[in-house]
Amino acid sequence: MVIAVIGSGYVGLVSGTCFADFGHEVICVDKAKDKIEKLRNGQIPIYEPGLEELVDSNVKAGRLSFTTELTDAVRKADVIFIAVGTPSRRGDGHADLSYVYAAAEEIAASLDGFTVIVTKSTVPVGTGDEVERIIREINPNADFEVVSNPEFLREGAAISDFKRPDRIVVGVSGDRAKSVMTEVYRPLYLNQSPLVFVSRRTSELIKYAGNAFLAMKITFINELADLSEAVGADVQDVARGIGLDNRIGSKFLNAGPGYGGSCFPKDTLALVKTAQDHASPVRLIETTCSINDQRKRSMSKKVISAVGGDVRGKKIAVLGLTFKPNTDDMRDSPALSIIQALQDKGAEISAYDPEGMKAAVELVDNVTFGNSAYDVAKDAHALVIVTEWNAFRALDFSRLKEDMAVPVLVDLRNIYGKDEVAKHGFSYMCVGRPDQEA
Ligand code: UDX
Repeated sequence: MVIAVIGSGYVGLVSGTCFADFGHEVICVDKAKDKIEKLRNGQIPIYEPGLEELVDSNVKAGRLSFTTELTDAVRKADVIFIAVGTPSRRGDGHADLSYVYAAAEEIAASLDGFTVIVTKSTVPVGTGDEVERIIREINPNADFEVVSNPEFLREGAAISDFKRPDRIVVGVSGDRAKSVMTEVYRPLYLNQSPLVFVSRRTSELIKYAGNAFLAMKITFINELADLSEAVGADVQDVARGIGLDNRIGSKFLNAGPGYGGSCFPKDTLALVKTAQDHASPVRLIETTCSINDQRKRSMSKKVISAVGGDVRGKKIAVLGLTFKPNTDDMRDSPALSIIQALQDKGAEISAYDPEGMKAAVELVDNVTFGNSAYDVAKDAHALVIVTEWNAFRALDFSRLKEDMAVPVLVDLRNIYGKDEVAKHGFSYMCVGRPDQEA
């Protein structure tokens, strides 16, 4: 089986590499010459644990290759995955499908023999229909089927998510495409990961519904964190107490500074727009989006109160810039909103992130970057943990106290507790655990 993957970004590269690791022959295609050149030289354009080694071993085994020549790849392929970006469209929040449709147009002319064309990109309901129409119009004799197969990869855990998924959702109508997709995922199917066959439109909606539900779950616990602060309860215990109910489940109940990343903010917004277009509004998700937007900025208030009500002229050290650990992705990261809000109030910001600083430099102004937590903590009036990187889980508080102007820790990810930090003379603020604050 030969698989072509159009678009060698995050999803395309991880999926293509894992398909190759399953034993398929995979050709990853991208228009960006420099990206393909780098990949051919073993350089991975994104930070994803384990990916470099997996690319290397599959290239060496002759199963994985990279090219800018879409035509050749399409001609050879039995299955073509479209894994190009679907960013939020400027102005209206709809998913921008121009890259998906451009890929469909390019694919159409070169199809050779029965080919299954799969949308892997996150696309609104009905996109598969339009991809089919475009191809049919350009090449009326082509023998093909269009399938929807959304990804559920988490950045930082993408390879294990790909290889051990909770489920694989396939939106397909024809039997030929169904059997090709079963063959593509055969190793996982053998490993008992359920393949869920549904209609194409249903599959497209499942992707948005899944992300929206998770975004809502996080937002729910974040609001409960605020309420816990108000009534004197502990949100982590609340999360445990409700999470042990199997109907609720314990995952995605960590309160924090709000969700960010390349998926939740964009996909929730796109779902809201689709629903509005169909006069069937998803009001829970609309509210989720606005609560989360406000939350990111409002976390700055915690910092301001931790330093006595005024940050003007004070140095605030931010630990963690990426939207979550184990990624270099800064998209919609809460850190961006918090930094901006603190700067608006006159704070001086120093910041450190193990992987995100290269991207952060382009996104924030007037921030001094350091090489470690200790480096940025010098003369700071507060240390603010925004992202729970492992490197921040065992900080040397005695050392930090010596260097900081005032020993204050604002822990927006609840990775410490009062007792651990108070004994080093730190005052401590966290999220939704008033009893833990010192
Ligand atoms: C998400 C989905 O999990 C994945 O299935 C989909 O394919 C893409 O979007 P990702 O964006 O990589 O993956 O990260 P995820 O681990 O889901 O976290 C998203 C955001 O939610 C992060 O900002 C994270 O910090 C936040 N989060 C997550 C919480 O604040 N609390 C939680 O309990 C879980």
